[in-house]
Amino acid sequence: MQDAWKFNSAGQIVFGNGAVQRIPALISRFGARQVAIITDPGVERAGLLGKVEAVLRAAGCTPQVYAQAMPEPDMASVLACCAQLRSAGPDLLIALGGGSSIDLTKIVALLLSHGGHPSDYYGENKVPGKIMPIIAIPTTAGTGSEVSPVAIVTDDKTQMKAGISDNQLRPAVALLDPELTLGLPPYITACTGMDALTQAIEAYYGKDYRYVGAGGDPIYQGSNPMTDMLAERAIGLIAENLPVAVHQGRNLEARSNMMLGNILSALAFSNSGVSWVHAVAYPVAERAPRPHGEVVGLLLPYGMEYNAVAAPDRFARIGELLGESREAAREARIQGGIDRIFRLLGVLGLPSRLSQIGIRGDQIDAIVDSSMTIERLNRLNPRTPVREDLVRLLERAL
Ligand SMILES: [Fe+2]
Repeated sequence: MQDAWKFNSAGQIVFGNGAVQRIPALISRFGARQVAIITDPGVERAGLLGKVEAVLRAAGCTPQVYAQAMPEPDMASVLACCAQLRSAGPDLLIALGGGSSIDLTKIVALLLSHGGHPSDYYGENKVPGKIMPIIAIPTTAGTGSEVSPVAIVTDDKTQMKAGISDNQLRPAVALLDPELTLGLPPYITACTGMDALTQAIEAYYGKDYRYVGAGGDPIYQGSNPMTDMLAERAIGLIAENLPVAVHQGRNLEARSNMMLGNILSALAFSNSGVSWVHAVAYPVAERAPRPHGEVVGLLLPYGMEYNAVAAPDRFARIGELLGESREAAREARIQGGIDRIFRLLGVLGLPSRLSQIGIRGDQIDAIVDSSMTIERLNRLNPRTPVREDLVRLLERAL
Protein backbone atom coordinates (compact mmCIF):
# COMPACT_ATOMS: atom_id res chain seq x y z
CA MET A 1 0.00 0.00 0.00
CA GLN A 2 1.39 3.41 -1.01
CA ASP A 3 1.34 5.84 1.90
CA ALA A 4 1.91 9.09 -0.02
CA TRP A 5 0.90 10.76 -3.25
CA LYS A 6 2.71 13.47 -5.13
CA PHE A 7 1.61 16.03 -7.67
CA ASN A 8 3.52 17.31 -10.71
CA SER A 9 2.66 19.96 -13.27
CA ALA A 10 4.20 22.18 -15.90
CA GLY A 11 6.61 24.67 -14.31
CA GLN A 12 4.06 27.45 -14.76
CA ILE A 13 0.57 27.79 -16.20
CA VAL A 14 -0.40 31.03 -17.94
CA PHE A 15 -4.09 31.28 -18.87
CA GLY A 16 -6.11 34.03 -20.51
CA ASN A 17 -7.46 35.59 -23.68
CA GLY A 18 -4.55 37.21 -25.49
CA ALA A 19 -2.01 35.35 -23.32
CA VAL A 20 0.25 34.86 -26.37
CA GLN A 21 1.33 38.49 -25.87
CA ARG A 22 3.25 37.29 -22.83
CA ILE A 23 5.59 35.00 -24.78
CA PRO A 24 8.48 37.54 -25.11
CA ALA A 25 8.54 38.15 -21.36
CA LEU A 26 8.60 34.38 -20.75
CA ILE A 27 11.47 33.92 -23.20
CA SER A 28 13.58 36.60 -21.53
CA ARG A 29 12.91 35.04 -18.12
CA PHE A 30 14.63 31.89 -19.38
CA GLY A 31 17.49 33.96 -20.83
CA ALA A 32 17.01 32.22 -24.20
CA ARG A 33 19.09 33.52 -27.11
CA GLN A 34 17.76 31.34 -29.93
CA VAL A 35 14.13 30.24 -30.06
CA ALA A 36 12.54 27.63 -32.33
CA ILE A 37 8.81 27.07 -32.95
CA ILE A 38 7.55 23.58 -33.73
CA THR A 39 4.11 23.42 -35.30
CA ASP A 40 2.10 21.74 -38.06
CA PRO A 41 0.81 22.85 -41.48
CA GLY A 42 -2.82 23.15 -40.27
CA VAL A 43 -1.85 25.58 -37.52
CA GLU A 44 0.19 27.57 -40.05
CA ARG A 45 -2.77 27.67 -42.49
CA ALA A 46 -5.11 28.81 -39.72
CA GLY A 47 -2.88 31.87 -39.21
CA LEU A 48 -1.89 30.95 -35.66
CA LEU A 49 1.82 30.54 -36.46
CA GLY A 50 1.79 34.00 -38.06
CA LYS A 51 0.15 35.41 -34.93
CA VAL A 52 2.83 34.01 -32.62
CA GLU A 53 5.65 35.01 -34.99
CA ALA A 54 4.30 38.57 -35.09
CA VAL A 55 4.35 38.76 -31.28
CA LEU A 56 7.97 37.56 -31.26
CA ARG A 57 9.11 39.88 -34.06
CA ALA A 58 7.55 42.87 -32.35
CA ALA A 59 9.83 42.04 -29.41
CA GLY A 60 12.90 41.80 -31.67
CA CYS A 61 13.05 37.99 -31.72
CA THR A 62 13.35 36.03 -34.98
CA PRO A 63 12.49 32.40 -34.28
CA GLN A 64 13.54 29.39 -36.28
CA VAL A 65 10.40 27.57 -37.50
CA TYR A 66 9.68 23.89 -38.13
CA ALA A 67 6.10 23.64 -39.44
CA GLN A 68 6.02 20.03 -40.70
CA ALA A 69 4.82 18.26 -37.55
CA MET A 70 2.46 15.43 -38.50
CA PRO A 71 -0.38 13.76 -36.59
CA GLU A 72 1.11 11.14 -34.25
CA PRO A 73 4.79 11.69 -35.12
CA ASP A 74 6.87 8.84 -36.53
CA MET A 75 10.57 8.38 -36.00
CA ALA A 76 11.55 9.90 -39.36
CA SER A 77 9.76 13.16 -38.54
CA VAL A 78 11.35 13.33 -35.07
CA LEU A 79 14.83 12.86 -36.51
CA ALA A 80 14.18 15.29 -39.39
CA CYS A 81 12.98 17.98 -36.99
CA CYS A 82 16.04 17.44 -34.77
CA ALA A 83 18.42 17.65 -37.70
CA GLN A 84 16.86 20.87 -38.97
CA LEU A 85 16.84 22.61 -35.59
CA ARG A 86 20.26 21.43 -34.40
CA SER A 87 22.10 23.67 -36.87
CA ALA A 88 20.72 26.86 -35.29
CA GLY A 89 21.23 25.55 -31.76
CA PRO A 90 18.02 26.71 -30.07
CA ASP A 91 17.98 26.97 -26.29
CA LEU A 92 14.17 27.25 -25.94
CA LEU A 93 11.41 25.54 -27.92
CA ILE A 94 7.86 26.76 -28.45
CA ALA A 95 5.36 23.97 -29.17
CA LEU A 96 2.34 25.36 -30.99
CA GLY A 97 -0.50 22.97 -31.89
CA GLY A 98 -2.30 19.86 -30.74
CA GLY A 99 -0.92 16.92 -28.80
CA SER A 100 1.21 15.69 -31.69
CA SER A 101 3.17 18.94 -32.07
CA ILE A 102 3.71 19.17 -28.32
CA ASP A 103 4.80 15.50 -28.10
CA LEU A 104 7.21 16.05 -30.99
CA THR A 105 8.66 19.11 -29.25
CA LYS A 106 9.22 17.16 -26.02
CA ILE A 107 11.18 14.43 -27.83
CA VAL A 108 13.20 16.98 -29.82
CA ALA A 109 14.01 18.92 -26.62
CA LEU A 110 15.07 15.64 -25.01
CA LEU A 111 17.38 14.70 -27.89
CA LEU A 112 18.86 18.19 -28.23
CA SER A 113 19.54 18.23 -24.48
CA HIS A 114 20.82 14.69 -23.88
CA GLY A 115 21.59 13.19 -27.31
CA GLY A 116 20.91 9.58 -28.25
CA HIS A 117 17.92 8.03 -30.02
CA PRO A 118 14.25 8.21 -28.89
CA SER A 119 14.27 4.44 -28.25
CA ASP A 120 16.92 4.99 -25.54
CA TYR A 121 14.20 6.63 -23.44
CA TYR A 122 11.15 4.38 -24.00
CA GLY A 123 9.31 3.52 -20.80
CA GLU A 124 9.24 5.38 -17.50
CA ASN A 125 11.83 7.54 -15.72
CA LYS A 126 14.63 7.10 -18.27
CA VAL A 127 15.37 10.81 -18.85
CA PRO A 128 18.70 11.59 -17.16
CA GLY A 129 18.05 15.23 -16.23
CA LYS A 130 16.39 18.51 -17.14
CA ILE A 131 15.59 19.18 -20.80
CA MET A 132 15.69 22.58 -22.49
CA PRO A 133 12.67 24.73 -21.61
CA ILE A 134 9.49 24.29 -23.64
CA ILE A 135 6.67 26.81 -23.83
CA ALA A 136 3.70 24.65 -24.85
CA ILE A 137 0.82 26.50 -26.48
CA PRO A 138 -2.11 24.19 -27.27
CA THR A 139 -4.43 25.15 -30.12
CA THR A 140 -7.09 22.61 -29.09
CA ALA A 141 -8.84 22.12 -25.76
CA GLY A 142 -8.14 18.46 -25.29
CA THR A 143 -4.57 17.28 -25.55
CA GLY A 144 -3.25 17.68 -22.02
CA SER A 145 0.25 17.27 -23.41
CA GLU A 146 1.03 20.89 -22.38
CA VAL A 147 1.33 19.76 -18.75
CA SER A 148 1.81 15.99 -19.12
CA PRO A 149 5.04 13.99 -18.66
CA VAL A 150 4.43 11.81 -21.74
CA ALA A 151 5.44 11.91 -25.40
CA ILE A 152 4.30 9.29 -27.90
CA VAL A 153 6.17 8.34 -31.08
CA THR A 154 5.53 5.59 -33.65
CA ASP A 155 8.56 3.29 -33.52
CA ASP A 156 10.16 2.70 -36.93
CA LYS A 157 11.01 -0.97 -36.26
CA THR A 158 7.79 -2.23 -34.67
CA GLN A 159 5.39 0.34 -36.22
CA MET A 160 3.79 0.43 -32.75
CA LYS A 161 3.27 3.51 -30.63
CA ALA A 162 5.95 3.89 -27.98
CA GLY A 163 5.79 6.20 -24.98
CA ILE A 164 8.45 8.16 -23.16
CA SER A 165 7.17 9.04 -19.68
CA ASP A 166 9.20 11.17 -17.33
CA ASN A 167 8.37 14.18 -15.20
CA GLN A 168 11.38 15.93 -16.79
CA LEU A 169 9.32 16.07 -20.03
CA ARG A 170 6.69 18.37 -18.53
CA PRO A 171 6.92 21.75 -20.29
CA ALA A 172 8.44 24.69 -18.40
CA VAL A 173 5.36 26.75 -19.31
CA ALA A 174 1.86 25.79 -20.45
CA LEU A 175 0.38 28.87 -22.07
CA LEU A 176 -3.36 28.64 -22.69
CA ASP A 177 -5.00 31.29 -24.82
CA PRO A 178 -8.67 30.42 -25.56
CA GLU A 179 -8.71 32.86 -28.51
CA LEU A 180 -6.45 30.43 -30.39
CA THR A 181 -9.29 27.88 -30.45
CA LEU A 182 -12.02 30.14 -31.90
CA GLY A 183 -11.46 28.87 -35.45
CA LEU A 184 -11.24 25.17 -34.57
CA PRO A 185 -13.70 23.16 -36.76
CA PRO A 186 -16.67 21.51 -34.96
CA TYR A 187 -15.49 17.93 -35.52
CA ILE A 188 -12.00 18.57 -34.07
CA THR A 189 -13.56 20.52 -31.19
CA ALA A 190 -15.84 17.54 -30.48
CA CYS A 191 -13.08 14.92 -30.64
CA THR A 192 -10.54 16.82 -28.56
CA GLY A 193 -13.25 17.81 -26.06
CA MET A 194 -14.32 14.18 -25.63
CA ASP A 195 -10.70 13.24 -24.97
CA ALA A 196 -10.53 15.87 -22.21
CA LEU A 197 -13.82 14.62 -20.73
CA THR A 198 -12.79 10.97 -20.89
CA GLN A 199 -9.46 11.77 -19.25
CA ALA A 200 -11.22 13.66 -16.45
CA ILE A 201 -13.73 10.85 -15.86
CA GLU A 202 -11.03 8.15 -15.94
CA ALA A 203 -8.87 10.25 -13.59
CA TYR A 204 -11.82 10.47 -11.21
CA TYR A 205 -12.86 6.82 -11.14
CA GLY A 206 -9.29 5.46 -11.29
CA LYS A 207 -8.20 3.28 -8.40
CA ASP A 208 -7.23 5.11 -5.20
CA TYR A 209 -3.43 5.63 -5.09
CA ARG A 210 -3.21 3.57 -1.88
CA TYR A 211 -4.39 0.41 -3.65
CA VAL A 212 -2.61 0.57 -7.01
CA GLY A 213 0.32 -1.50 -5.75
CA ALA A 214 2.65 -0.54 -8.59
CA GLY A 215 5.84 -0.27 -6.54
CA GLY A 216 8.76 1.96 -7.48
CA ASP A 217 8.01 5.55 -8.42
CA PRO A 218 5.14 5.32 -10.91
CA ILE A 219 4.27 8.47 -12.83
CA TYR A 220 0.60 7.48 -12.95
CA GLN A 221 -0.20 6.85 -9.30
CA GLY A 222 -3.98 6.45 -9.13
CA SER A 223 -6.48 9.01 -7.89
CA ASN A 224 -5.77 11.22 -4.89
CA PRO A 225 -7.58 14.12 -3.20
CA MET A 226 -5.94 16.72 -5.44
CA THR A 227 -6.69 14.94 -8.73
CA ASP A 228 -10.26 14.28 -7.50
CA MET A 229 -10.89 17.98 -6.99
CA LEU A 230 -9.47 18.92 -10.39
CA ALA A 231 -11.32 16.14 -12.21
CA GLU A 232 -14.68 16.98 -10.60
CA ARG A 233 -14.50 20.58 -11.79
CA ALA A 234 -13.25 19.50 -15.22
CA ILE A 235 -16.13 17.05 -15.75
CA GLY A 236 -18.77 19.70 -14.99
CA LEU A 237 -17.10 22.40 -17.11
CA ILE A 238 -16.56 20.20 -20.16
CA ALA A 239 -20.00 18.53 -20.11
CA GLU A 240 -21.67 21.94 -19.89
CA ASN A 241 -19.58 23.78 -22.47
CA LEU A 242 -18.59 21.23 -25.10
CA PRO A 243 -21.93 21.24 -26.98
CA VAL A 244 -21.86 25.07 -27.09
CA ALA A 245 -18.23 25.16 -28.30
CA VAL A 246 -19.06 22.64 -31.05
CA HIS A 247 -22.25 24.35 -32.23
CA GLN A 248 -21.09 27.98 -31.69
CA GLY A 249 -17.40 27.93 -32.47
CA ARG A 250 -16.96 31.69 -32.00
CA ASN A 251 -18.47 31.65 -28.48
CA LEU A 252 -15.44 32.83 -26.50
CA GLU A 253 -16.94 32.04 -23.11
CA ALA A 254 -17.57 28.40 -24.09
CA ARG A 255 -14.09 28.18 -25.64
CA SER A 256 -12.54 29.63 -22.50
CA ASN A 257 -14.45 27.22 -20.26
CA MET A 258 -13.35 24.32 -22.48
CA MET A 259 -9.73 25.41 -22.20
CA LEU A 260 -10.09 25.62 -18.42
CA GLY A 261 -11.81 22.21 -18.29
CA ASN A 262 -9.03 20.81 -20.46
CA ILE A 263 -6.21 22.06 -18.23
CA LEU A 264 -7.93 20.86 -15.05
CA SER A 265 -8.51 17.46 -16.67
CA ALA A 266 -4.88 17.33 -17.77
CA LEU A 267 -3.55 18.22 -14.34
CA ALA A 268 -5.70 15.43 -12.88
CA PHE A 269 -5.00 12.63 -15.35
CA SER A 270 -1.30 13.43 -15.79
CA ASN A 271 -0.87 12.50 -12.13
CA SER A 272 -3.59 9.91 -11.50
CA GLY A 273 -3.44 8.24 -14.93
CA VAL A 274 -6.15 6.88 -17.20
CA SER A 275 -7.21 3.26 -17.44
CA TRP A 276 -9.41 0.79 -19.33
CA VAL A 277 -10.92 3.16 -21.91
CA HIS A 278 -7.49 4.28 -23.05
CA ALA A 279 -6.10 0.71 -22.90
CA VAL A 280 -8.81 -0.47 -25.33
CA ALA A 281 -8.63 2.67 -27.48
CA TYR A 282 -5.09 1.90 -28.64
CA PRO A 283 -5.81 -1.52 -30.25
CA VAL A 284 -9.12 -0.18 -31.62
CA ALA A 285 -7.31 2.75 -33.26
CA GLU A 286 -4.76 0.38 -34.82
CA ARG A 287 -7.67 -1.29 -36.67
CA ALA A 288 -9.75 1.85 -37.23
CA PRO A 289 -7.47 4.87 -37.63
CA ARG A 290 -9.81 7.51 -36.24
CA PRO A 291 -8.97 10.55 -34.08
CA HIS A 292 -7.99 9.53 -30.55
CA GLY A 293 -10.78 11.60 -28.97
CA GLU A 294 -13.43 9.96 -31.15
CA VAL A 295 -12.29 6.48 -30.11
CA VAL A 296 -12.03 7.16 -26.37
CA GLY A 297 -15.34 9.05 -26.42
CA LEU A 298 -17.05 6.07 -28.09
CA LEU A 299 -15.64 3.66 -25.50
CA LEU A 300 -16.29 5.90 -22.48
CA PRO A 301 -19.92 4.93 -21.67
CA TYR A 302 -19.06 1.23 -21.97
CA GLY A 303 -16.07 1.68 -19.65
CA MET A 304 -18.35 3.45 -17.17
CA GLU A 305 -20.87 0.62 -17.39
CA TYR A 306 -18.15 -1.98 -16.73
CA ASN A 307 -16.55 -0.18 -13.83
CA ALA A 308 -19.55 1.24 -11.98
CA VAL A 309 -19.93 -1.84 -9.76
CA ALA A 310 -16.41 -1.35 -8.38
CA ALA A 311 -16.80 2.34 -7.48
CA PRO A 312 -20.55 3.07 -7.19
CA ASP A 313 -20.26 6.27 -5.15
CA ARG A 314 -17.76 7.73 -7.60
CA PHE A 315 -20.01 6.91 -10.56
CA ALA A 316 -23.05 8.37 -8.81
CA ARG A 317 -21.06 11.58 -8.31
CA ILE A 318 -20.06 11.56 -11.99
CA GLY A 319 -23.78 11.33 -12.78
CA GLU A 320 -24.40 14.42 -10.64
CA LEU A 321 -21.55 16.31 -12.30
CA LEU A 322 -23.10 15.50 -15.67
CA GLY A 323 -26.46 16.88 -14.54
CA GLU A 324 -28.34 14.17 -12.61
CA SER A 325 -30.27 15.26 -9.52
CA ARG A 326 -28.52 14.77 -6.18
CA GLU A 327 -31.84 13.64 -4.76
CA ALA A 328 -32.08 10.65 -7.11
CA ALA A 329 -31.23 7.14 -5.90
CA ARG A 330 -27.60 6.09 -6.33
CA GLU A 331 -28.35 3.59 -9.10
CA ALA A 332 -30.39 6.20 -10.98
CA ARG A 333 -27.51 8.71 -10.82
CA ILE A 334 -25.05 6.07 -12.08
CA GLN A 335 -27.24 5.01 -15.01
CA GLY A 336 -28.25 8.61 -15.69
CA GLY A 337 -24.58 9.58 -16.06
CA ILE A 338 -23.96 6.79 -18.58
CA ASP A 339 -27.11 7.74 -20.55
CA ARG A 340 -25.97 11.37 -20.61
CA ILE A 341 -22.64 10.41 -22.20
CA PHE A 342 -24.53 8.53 -24.96
CA ARG A 343 -26.74 11.60 -25.50
CA LEU A 344 -23.72 13.91 -25.54
CA LEU A 345 -22.08 11.82 -28.28
CA GLY A 346 -25.29 12.18 -30.28
CA VAL A 347 -25.42 15.96 -29.81
CA LEU A 348 -21.77 16.21 -30.91
CA GLY A 349 -22.38 14.02 -33.97
CA LEU A 350 -19.85 11.42 -32.79
CA PRO A 351 -20.23 7.62 -33.07
CA SER A 352 -21.27 5.51 -30.09
CA ARG A 353 -20.88 2.05 -31.64
CA LEU A 354 -17.71 0.27 -32.81
CA SER A 355 -19.29 -0.80 -36.12
CA GLN A 356 -19.73 2.90 -36.99
CA ILE A 357 -15.95 3.28 -37.18
CA GLY A 358 -15.47 0.02 -39.10
CA ILE A 359 -14.68 -2.47 -36.32
CA ARG A 360 -15.97 -6.01 -37.03
CA GLY A 361 -17.08 -8.66 -34.57
CA ASP A 362 -14.21 -10.98 -35.54
CA GLN A 363 -11.70 -8.33 -34.37
CA ILE A 364 -12.95 -8.11 -30.81
CA ASP A 365 -10.97 -11.03 -29.34
CA ALA A 366 -7.69 -9.58 -30.60
CA ILE A 367 -8.61 -6.07 -29.37
CA VAL A 368 -9.34 -7.38 -25.89
CA ASP A 369 -6.16 -9.50 -25.80
CA SER A 370 -4.05 -6.55 -26.88
CA SER A 371 -5.70 -4.18 -24.38
CA MET A 372 -4.99 -6.58 -21.52
CA THR A 373 -1.24 -6.37 -22.12
CA ILE A 374 -1.18 -2.65 -21.21
CA GLU A 375 -0.51 -3.18 -17.54
CA ARG A 376 0.39 0.44 -16.71
CA LEU A 377 -3.22 1.44 -17.58
CA ASN A 378 -5.12 -1.66 -16.45
CA ARG A 379 -3.61 -1.61 -12.97
CA LEU A 380 -5.39 1.72 -12.40
CA ASN A 381 -8.80 0.38 -13.41
CA PRO A 382 -11.16 0.05 -10.42
CA ARG A 383 -12.47 -3.32 -11.69
CA THR A 384 -9.94 -5.99 -12.65
CA PRO A 385 -10.35 -6.58 -16.40
CA VAL A 386 -11.56 -10.12 -17.15
CA ARG A 387 -11.24 -11.29 -20.73
CA GLU A 388 -14.69 -12.89 -21.20
CA ASP A 389 -16.49 -9.92 -19.61
CA LEU A 390 -14.69 -7.50 -21.90
CA VAL A 391 -15.44 -9.53 -25.02
CA ARG A 392 -19.14 -9.48 -24.10
CA LEU A 393 -18.99 -5.74 -23.35
CA LEU A 394 -17.39 -4.90 -26.68
CA GLU A 395 -19.80 -7.18 -28.56
CA ARG A 396 -22.59 -5.05 -27.12
CA ALA A 397 -20.67 -1.97 -28.27
CA LEU A 398 -20.62 -3.16 -31.91
FE1 LIG B 1 -6.61 10.59 -24.23
